[in-house]
Order: sequence, then C-alpha cells, then structure tokens
Amino acid sequence: MSSPPIPSSTGFSGVPFFHRLPPLPKLEGTDPGTAPQDAFRLAIADQLSQILGVPLNDVFLAVAMGGKGCDYKVVLPRFRLPTKVDELKASVLEAFKPNEYIERVSANGPAVEFHVRTDTLIPLTLSTIHAMTYGDGAALDADGQKQPSYGSNKSGKGKKVLIEFSSPNIAKPFHAGHLRSTIIGAFLANLYEANGWSVFRLNYLGDWGKQFGLLALGWRRFGSEEALLNDPVQHLYEVYVAINKLAEQGEGEGEKIHDEARAFFKGMEDGNKEYLVEWEKFRSLSIKKYEETYARLNIHFDEYTGESKVSKEGLEKMLGILRDADFTTREENGALLVDLTPYKLEKAVVERKDGTPLYITRDIVEAQQRYERYDGFDKMVYVIATQQDLHTAQFFKVLELMGLPWAQKDKNALLHINFGMVQGMSTRKGTTVFLDHILNETKQKMLEVMQKNEEKYAQLEDPERTADIVGMTAVKIQDMAGKRINNYSFDWSRMFSFEGDTGPYLQYNHVRLCSVERINAADGLVLPTEDLDISTMRTERLISPEAVELVWILASWPDVVKTASRDHQASTIVTFCFKLTHAISSAWEKLIVKNQEHDDAMVRLWLYRCAKDVLGSALRLLTITPLERM
Ligand code: ARG
Repeated sequence: MSSPPIPSSTGFSGVPFFHRLPPLPKLEGTDPGTAPQDAFRLAIADQLSQILGVPLNDVFLAVAMGGKGCDYKVVLPRFRLPTKVDELKASVLEAFKPNEYIERVSANGPAVEFHVRTDTLIPLTLSTIHAMTYGDGAALDADGQKQPSYGSNKSGKGKKVLIEFSSPNIAKPFHAGHLRSTIIGAFLANLYEANGWSVFRLNYLGDWGKQFGLLALGWRRFGSEEALLNDPVQHLYEVYVAINKLAEQGEGEGEKIHDEARAFFKGMEDGNKEYLVEWEKFRSLSIKKYEETYARLNIHFDEYTGESKVSKEGLEKMLGILRDADFTTREENGALLVDLTPYKLEKAVVERKDGTPLYITRDIVEAQQRYERYDGFDKMVYVIATQQDLHTAQFFKVLELMGLPWAQKDKNALLHINFGMVQGMSTRKGTTVFLDHILNETKQKMLEVMQKNEEKYAQLEDPERTADIVGMTAVKIQDMAGKRINNYSFDWSRMFSFEGDTGPYLQYNHVRLCSVERINAADGLVLPTEDLDISTMRTERLISPEAVELVWILASWPDVVKTASRDHQASTIVTFCFKLTHAISSAWEKLIVKNQEHDDAMVRLWLYRCAKDVLGSALRLLTITPLERM
C-alpha cells in the first residue's frame, strides 16, 4: 500500500538535524546520518579511542547498550591493556569531554557508562526518520515514488543473492511446510534488500516426474476443462487423487496404470511433443493460480524454475563427473552412491539402477545452472523445512566435493534456512489444505470479527480487502513470532485476537496512529522546519520518560534490521514490532494530543507519525501491508 502523501504544511526541507551536529569520524559499516545509534556510539568511540590508544573500530564494537541507569557502557577489561582498570577508568572520567552527543560519563565497576543528550537524541532520531521517509533520504521505487528507507543500509551493495522459497509440487497439496517456506522466504528476500543486496526470488516447483504420467492418465478419465480453468491447483489435485485411487487397485489393474504412467513420463523425458504440451498446460495454469495467491500475500517471484528445468545435458555431464569421482561407488544392483559418511551425512544415491536421476541429482545440477544463469552470485539461500536438513547438507557437500569454487565451505555462499513444523493446519472442515482456502477462511473469520463493530465496519471502503489483509497479518505474525526452528500449532482463535502479541494487534496500533493524526491534524501536520530551532523550542516539549523510551526504540530500528540480517530470524523483527507497540500503548496516556496546546499537540503528533512510519516499515519488511483503517 502506498505511503501517505507528504503533508503540504510541513515545510520540511528534508535536511535532518544530523547536519547541525559536530562531525564524527568515518568508520566502515557505520552511517550516523541514517542510523542514530551509530552517531552516539561513534561519539563515544571517538574520544575513548584517543584516551585509551585503542583503534576506533575496536572501541566502537565495545560500546554496548547500557541497560539500567545509563544509555551506553564500555567494559574496560575487554581491551586487555597493560594499564590497571582503575587507572584507565580515572583517565576516561577525567579526559572525556561532554559534547552535543554525550552529556555525562560515570563509572560502574569495570565499566564506564555514558548518558546521551536527550535533546539531541529526540530531534536526531525523528528528523532522520522523517527525512528518510519523505525527504531527500527516501528511496525511490521503480515508478519514481518515494519509499521509506529508514532502517535500511547499504552493507550488501554490489552483492547478489538468490533466494529459493515456497517451491510447492504441482497436483499435490500446498502444505504447511510450503506455507512457512513462503512466509519466511519472502521476508528474507525483503531483508536482504533492506541490507542493500540485489535479490532474485526463485520458486523451485515440483513439476517433473512419474506423477505427471499419472496426472495425464487421470486427466483423460476425470479431467474437466472448465474445472481446470476455474481452479487448476484444486482440480489437478482432485484428478491426481482419483487416479491414485485407481492405481492402488489390485488384480493387475493398478499395475497397468503405473506402467502406463511410467511410459508417459518416459515419453516426456524423450521429448514427446504432444505429452509436453499437455504437461506445459498443467504447469502454466498452476503457476497462474499460484501467482494470484502470492500476489495476495505481497509476494512475487523473479523466476519459476523447477525440477523440470534441470537440463538433460547438465544431468548427463554431472553424472559423468560423479561416475569417475573417487568419492562415489557403484552398488551391486547398479545404483551410484556418494559416500558422505566421513562427513556424518550418510550415503546418497545420485543415480538409480536404471540410470535415471533423483531429487538430489537435480538439485546438484540446478545449483550449477543457477550459478551460470545468474552470472554468479555471492549467496544462494534455500528456505526448506527441517525434514530436508540431510538432503540439503548432502547436496551442498557434493557440490563442494565436485570442486566448484563457489561451493567451497570458506565461501559461505550456500545457506540452508530451515524451520520447524506447523501442527494442526487444516481448514475448519478438516479437508486438505490449499493455501488460498486457508486465506479465504482466514478472511471470512476476520470479517465476522470486524462486523461486530458496526460503526467502524460501516466506515470501511473495502471491508473484504481489509479483512483479507488483517487475516493474512494474523497468519504471518503467528508464523514469524517464534524462532524458526520451533514447531507451533495453527491456532484459529488465538491468532485473531486483538489483544496479546498477534497480527491484528499490530495492525490495530498502526490504524490508531493513523487515526490520531486524521482526527487531530485534519489540516495537516505542522512539523519543525529548518528555520525553527527544533532542539530547544520543539522537542523539549517531548522530554518525558514515555517519549524518550519510544524514541530509543525508534532509534534502534536500523540496528534491528542489521541483527536480523545476521540471525535470519523474522522473530527479531516481530519482537521489535511488539516492543514498539507496547511503548506506543504506554505513550497514549501521557502524550495526549486532543485539546492540547497547539505546539504540544503538533510535536506529539510528529512523534506518533514517526512511530507509525517505523511500524509501517517493519510490517512491510515482514511482507505485511500496514492498514490505515480497520
Ligand atoms: N518441492 C519440494 C517439496 O515440496 C521442496 C523443494 C525444496 N527445494 C529444493 N531445492 N530441493 O518437498
């Protein structure tokens, strides 16, 4: 959803407060103009590095959040200096000069503690957010529209990552594992983008194999052109189930079907045009349907690849190499084995006794083909359930053993992002899960909840769309709230609650931030301009524990994005969202806008606007559309 237009009355020139502050030393990996915490850390590190004679970067890394009683602290023994800690402490206390960033330094045990100037923290943070949302610091999207960029950084500039996620199997259910891969993968793709990488999103479909022979036979018996066009994913599944039932029959009947299916698939492999046309139709209609569902979830792919796209020549070439390799052996029955027991990865069959390739064989070749297709990459991420841990580790290892330079361990280019199971995800009727059915049901349930508030419901322009978005928020937040590896149970009632740490609660907070401005600044928000002395006249009005707490959280957003890029946990972002919304909830009672003196009201609204912009960015990073009304 597009961000709100820049209010005409702001007069905000887009030059953040940062440019009025004394200059800071340059340090790679920091950007105080876009990440407020970097400014304070650098201001501390700058002086400490000179006082202690320790390189700037080492001190910078040692500046930790303070916890109770101070804002930042540095534990001195960690530098392992020859001078006694007490002496070091004394020299810091004596030589450290308070400035526009740091108000005061004190000592506590082996640590020195720093107190930042709140009258710098507040305008620095708010004006940085504002400039990066509406001013010159905002990013431009493909259509030249301004996009909020507070929180993002350029650490991945010039680097390329391929992210493979979702990867359902045609004619089979889109199960919970695919849902999680979709949600987590789409988030990771956004996250890499927020860290400056160029990102390619790949969907590796299960679109090849004997099951397409079965499907084709089933189609002849049970297929309906109309049903196929109406809902290909559902219909192909029905056909597949029906033919499988027949194939399970005894008395040779079932065997016959299997033989025919094998023959059909062999025909596909040998390039039988007629067969391939039929297969391509199933594939492309399924993709069209998937695309609709993904779009609903704010997800798109740059490429639909799949098992079918692994070339015959590639497979032949690779099997040729493996047959001659010293880490493979031929079994008595003729299958080709890679012995990975030295790496505790068991043995992997890469070629069946009849010479046909397997799932793993295709993965090995597809990885190589991607490297060529994309003209190399710095990273390739696979988002696959933990059930396939062994499979993934095996094919990573085979690529390494084959000597491919980019697949070597020290390159860290191949990354498996795994995740635990979802228990009990089924539609309320208990039928097999299709993603769009789950989403429809979620939307329906959400509509019911929303209709209970008749007045608000009547104000909604498009209640169906709103319900759909809140519903998907519920599903996504439930999925991303915990550590990836944990299993969780799909809980229809908890997920939809507006209280507690749920998706609807986050949306509710965003909506409330939008409405406070709509109601109290109908003529537009008057924001500090360059001419106003924001540090004294404006933000002093904000100095209160609730506001400062909120501003600290807002100031930490760029660091949270960096942390998530290291731990690859969506929960890092979700936890931030809850921390932020809890702080907003506490602020409402103290930082009142209604019926307040004009300047007080405006500066509080400015704070709420910034909170809304940051919450909106965090939700968008999680692939969620922040709502303005609900
Ligand atoms: N289609 C597979 C499944 O449903 C997942 C594919 C995972 N990706 C891969 N490169 N093997 O189990």
